Amino acid sequence: MIHFDEVSFTYAGASRAAVSDIDMRLEPGETLAVLGANGSGKSTLACLVNGLLLPATGKVIVEGMDTADESLMWEVRSRVGLVLQDPDDQIVGTVVEEDVAFGPENLGIERSEIRERVDGALSIVGLTGLERREPHLLSGGQKQRLAIAGALAMRPAYLVLDEPTAMLDPEGRGSVLALVELLKSQGVGILFITHHLADVVTAERVVVLDAGRIAFAGTPAELLATEGVLESCGLESPPLQVMEAALRETGFRLPAGPLSAEGMAEALCS
Ligand SMILES: Nc1ncnc2c1ncn2[C@@H]1O[C@H](COP(=O)(O)OP(=O)(O)OP(=O)(O)O)[C@@H](O)[C@H]1O
Ligand SMILES: [Mg+2]
Repeated sequence: MIHFDEVSFTYAGASRAAVSDIDMRLEPGETLAVLGANGSGKSTLACLVNGLLLPATGKVIVEGMDTADESLMWEVRSRVGLVLQDPDDQIVGTVVEEDVAFGPENLGIERSEIRERVDGALSIVGLTGLERREPHLLSGGQKQRLAIAGALAMRPAYLVLDEPTAMLDPEGRGSVLALVELLKSQGVGILFITHHLADVVTAERVVVLDAGRIAFAGTPAELLATEGVLESCGLESPPLQVMEAALRETGFRLPAGPLSAEGMAEALCS
């Protein structure tokens, strides 16, 4: 389990904390979604998970290990894969396959197994065939998928994805969402950071950040049913729920919501 125990963090020279009093848990095999507007503290939270940033107050505990304990830093980072919001911040190899191999090499893994992991990770993210391509020649979406491949090659117990669908077209977005479901079914715990609730309707739990504080914690359905939270935190409702609200307003009789896409189709066709 990953446990944020009353965590606060302030950047040097900043007048207010980037995140305050964060208390949350992520279990293996579940997705915890973090939603929030620009500047609400999502990326700061991501960097606190694996010790890239350390709490000013409170603790982040990864499977019993305090991220502030320097002697455990590699142990923590080998368990928590972090895919940063800007993939350029993460590229280290001169060609794609080297970039993906970097993490497993640092873990001291045997050559033949590294090859297997690199090929497997590139295949999962759909970059097979681009092994010798220089990363700076990739598109934004391809770089994002390269960063995900690099994290997967470490076979982490937990994966933190900071806005992994932001640069992707619908197909790329769909494949990342499918990948998250696959990893979950394999027992990986996922922290999924996004602006879009529609990306995370299958998450077990959602946390909404507002100015660095948790403004809401619950299930996606509870969030949709709690009026005003998304709006007051600067977020949009998913298109399906916008449609649902508009239909109810015009007097259309729908079953109790929030409705799934299938539920909506059934209600409209019945
Ligand atoms: N390196 C930094 N130095 C100082 N302040 C920072 C730094 N990085 C972020 N901040 C500030 O911390 C707060 C939280 O930023 P953060 O990047 O965590 O937000 P975010 O929710 O990820 O935003 P976005 O949706 O734009 O990615 C903001 O007020 C931001 O200006
Ligand atoms: Mg961010």
